[in-house]
Amino acid sequence: MEERVISRAVITRLPRYYRYLGELLESGVERISSNELSSRMRVTASQIRQDLNNFGGFGQQGYGYNVKYLYTEIGKILGIDRQHNLIIIGAGNLGQAIANYANFEKRGFVIKGMFDINPRLIGLVVRGIEIRGVEDLEQFIADNDVQMAALTIPKTKAPEIADRLVHAGIKAIWNFAHVDLNVPEDVVVENVHLSESLMRLSYRVCSMQDKKKEELERAQKKGTINNR
Ligand code: NAI
Repeated sequence: MEERVISRAVITRLPRYYRYLGELLESGVERISSNELSSRMRVTASQIRQDLNNFGGFGQQGYGYNVKYLYTEIGKILGIDRQHNLIIIGAGNLGQAIANYANFEKRGFVIKGMFDINPRLIGLVVRGIEIRGVEDLEQFIADNDVQMAALTIPKTKAPEIADRLVHAGIKAIWNFAHVDLNVPEDVVVENVHLSESLMRLSYRVCSMQDKKKEELERAQKKGTINNR
C-alpha cells in the first residue's frame, strides 16, 4: 500500500471503524456500502468515504466495502496485526484493573509484567502477571522485548519513571498520570484522562439542559404575552 500521511483525526476514528467491522464480520456480513455503514455508525457516508479513501480506496462502486479486507487493512494500519509487549508501572487500583482486563490480549497487547514500590504488593500475582519491584524495571524490559508501558502511578512520580523507561528503550507510553510528560521525539505518549472525558460529558449534559430551560422560558414568556 502507498505510504501516506494520515491525519490524527482520521487515526482517532479508525479504532471505531475497526470495532464496527469486527462486529459485522462476527455476524457474517461480507460487504457493506458506505451508506449502510453510515447509518450503523451514525457518521455521514461522505465522511466514511473520505476517511477510507486515505488508504487507497478499499471500496468499489456498486459493490461497497469488503468487510474482511477493510478490517484486516485497518488492523495493519493500527499496528494491531502484531504483538505488542506491555508493562504496567503502578500496581494499585487502576494498574490492577488494566491487568485484569483480558481483552487487550485479543488485540495483541500482551501484559508481560507489573511494577510497584510497595513491598506489600511485590510478589503478588494478578491474572498470572507477577508484580515486581521497580528496581528490576530496566533488566525486565531488556529481557522481555517490551516496547510499551502503562503509567498508573501518582503524577509526582511519573516524570522520573518516564525518564527511566525512555532510557531503557520504551517507545510508547500509555500515560494515566495527570501530568504532561517530556519525552524525546522518537517516543510516543498517549494520555488517557477519564476525568477529562467526564468533564466533556458534564459540559454536554449541562448545555443541553440550559438550552431546554431557555426554550421553556421563551415559550412561557411568549405564552404570557399572547395571553395578555
Ligand atoms: P493507587 O494508589 O491505588 O495506585 C498507585 C500505585 O502506584 C501504588 O500501588 C503505589 O505504590 C505505586 N507507586 C507509587 N510510586 C511509584 C513508583 N515510583 N514506581 C512504581 N510504583 C509506584 O492509585 P490508582 O487509583 O491506581 O491511581 C493511579 C494513578 O492514576 C494516580 O495518579 C491517579 O491520579 C491516576 N488515575 C488516572 C485516571 C485517568 O483517567 N487518567 C483514572 C484513575 C486514576
